[in-house]
Amino acid sequence: MTEADVDAVAAELRQRLAERLTAAGWLLSPAWRDAVEAVPRHEFAPRFYVESDAPGLTTWAPVTPELVGVHEWLRQVYDDETLITQFDSREIDWADPQPISNAHPTSSSTLPSLVVRMLEDLQVEDDHTVTEYGTGTGYSTALLCHRLGDERVLSIETDARVAARARAALVRCGYRPRLYIGDGLTGAPGSTRAHRTIATMGVRSIPPAWVEQTHPGGLIVATLRGWMRSLGLVRLTVEDNGTAHGRFLSSDPSFMIARQQEAPESLGMLPAPDGGNTRRTSYGPELLAMPDSGFVAQLTMPNARYFSMLADDGTVSTYVLDATNDAFAVLTPNGEGWTVRQGGPALLWDDVEQALALWHAADSPAPSEFGVSVAPDAQRVWLGTPDGPSWRLPA
Ligand SMILES: C[S@@+](CC[C@H](N)C(=O)[O-])C[C@H]1O[C@@H](n2cnc3c(N)ncnc32)[C@H](O)[C@@H]1O
Repeated sequence: MTEADVDAVAAELRQRLAERLTAAGWLLSPAWRDAVEAVPRHEFAPRFYVESDAPGLTTWAPVTPELVGVHEWLRQVYDDETLITQFDSREIDWADPQPISNAHPTSSSTLPSLVVRMLEDLQVEDDHTVTEYGTGTGYSTALLCHRLGDERVLSIETDARVAARARAALVRCGYRPRLYIGDGLTGAPGSTRAHRTIATMGVRSIPPAWVEQTHPGGLIVATLRGWMRSLGLVRLTVEDNGTAHGRFLSSDPSFMIARQQEAPESLGMLPAPDGGNTRRTSYGPELLAMPDSGFVAQLTMPNARYFSMLADDGTVSTYVLDATNDAFAVLTPNGEGWTVRQGGPALLWDDVEQALALWHAADSPAPSEFGVSVAPDAQRVWLGTPDGPSWRLPA
């Protein structure tokens, strides 16, 4: 295939992608549709990994034009899929790419439906400036440049090699936004202020610098996440007193967490077999994995993670551990129900049960009924209204 053939096929696939994203209700405005049809995603993801369907351990398979053929490579580039470009903050050996498992994606070109959805949620106008955190491959940066012009876009990436690749791809496609390498959790360099702030990496709470560096009346679109799961996509309006408020738009989207906020490697200390106090509970560990109750549990235990372990007597217990303070809750099946053994400085399962009681009393609302308030001294997720029940986000 000549370069011209690749361009022609890619243009057609982009058009089809735009049609699919429009039909699915993600792509709403002609301006963003125009950007999706124009920006060549294959320049930003010339080789990548995709999750394979094989059962068992999550495995990713490499995709390059040489491995799968140019047509199939382009087809996958213009699928509504996340294209992984880095694992465990290490460079991929593209000289001999092998399937990868037991690894943790650390950079990617995000799912196009999620990218355009967030861009639509950002409600940009032609004269707006945008700061983006998490340049990644540069694909979303290119969409922003196409929509607003290079001089209105600033993008920040923590990984120098990832940033260098993004810069090269952007230049190849004729885009020259301001790009910075650095930890976006500390904000953009200098006294930059943008009308809109968007983050394509997950954060445990909104970095105060993002509020300071967004014009009053401006919007921040980002995903909040914890160490157990994503909390979801929020859109906050920045006030002129250094605070920001808004609601969850959805709890589905999940982004890789900011590198500086990764959970500690150790899950925490296993509690002594006779530690803590035991009581019955009507809630088993399944609530942690369920969409809405899992959201509530994540809010209640921001530092906890869990795993299951088979005991010598054949019972499988679930250990919920807070690695930051050694609080624990161990859930064990007991007849029709469960027992929980808790100990340490916080009673994790008591807190989850109290939060679930409040949630049930409010008719078990979806995460979109929750909102977020960000102030310089504290950040809270609230239920219903800002003065409803609330939970602090980790600082
Ligand atoms: C999901 S990818 C971004 C996808 C990108 N917007 C695209 O369209 O290709 C998330 C990126 O955030 C970057 N990142 C992680 N922590 C960061 C931080 N503290 N500051 C800036 N970038 C960060 C990662 O290195 C990764 O490249």
